[in-house]
Amino acid sequence: MRNIDESTITEAVLRSFDSCPDPRLRTVLGALVTHLHDFAREVRLTEEEWARGIDYLTRTGQKCNDVRQEFILLSDVLGLSMLTIAMNHAKPPGATEATVFGPFYTHDAPVLQDGADIAGGAPGEPLAVDVRIVSEDGQPVRDARVDVWQADDDGLYDVQIDALGDRRRARATFRADAQGRLRFRSIVPVAYPIPTDGPVGELLGAGGRHPWRPAHMHFMIHAPGHQKLVTHLFLDGDRWLESDAVFGVRSSLVVQLERPANGPALLSHTFVLAQEHAR
Ligand code: BEZ
Ligand code: FE
Repeated sequence: MRNIDESTITEAVLRSFDSCPDPRLRTVLGALVTHLHDFAREVRLTEEEWARGIDYLTRTGQKCNDVRQEFILLSDVLGLSMLTIAMNHAKPPGATEATVFGPFYTHDAPVLQDGADIAGGAPGEPLAVDVRIVSEDGQPVRDARVDVWQADDDGLYDVQIDALGDRRRARATFRADAQGRLRFRSIVPVAYPIPTDGPVGELLGAGGRHPWRPAHMHFMIHAPGHQKLVTHLFLDGDRWLESDAVFGVRSSLVVQLERPANGPALLSHTFVLAQEHAR
């Protein structure tokens, strides 16, 4: 393999993987090399730009730690996370749609009982939440595990607040009851900017983009016989619904807060879980 030039290098690299024993890996690497090379040829990539790209990716890796995953954030703002979700979690008609998982889930949320207040002192306007979990046929789903998490009134998740240490708030794990119902108290979610103090913030700034996500509450629901659902409920009227920094908004997930004359604001919703093997 000698005298490789701009027009022959792609084929040479593809052939170098000919004896890759894993056919899927060969397909993925082949497509990656083809598209990377086509990209470089299309933009006539300069050496200086290539070096800046390497430096950018290096700094993205260096920004990652136990509680910060800058590569996922990069994937989110480039729309790759939502594209992957859209391709892998197409739900049957009527089933609740999935959206981006985000970086702020933790495995150590308090396990609370129906009716509990999850705010744990987080500042915000009081909120009552009333959800039902049903199958595609409308029957209640029993034994659902429901994880919820959200930002506080300052737009911060507990894990972003150093002073809280390992203390968790505005998140919980619940079991819905035998009728698939779960009620709890929390605070009204507000819009917040994704973290901008790293390479992703730099990219947004340089690209003339804002970092805001519309107000939302995260839900992850596991139930026997059903597909796992990772989703949000967004609040209607939010100014960022049309330009979510991570492209996660789906109309079916936008809900109207009720404002009863007496008592706190109310967020109610029915989640429809897809059957385990539905596609
Ligand atoms: C979130 O909603 O928590 C989130 C999702 C993607 C990137 C950053 C934050
Ligand atoms: Fe969020």
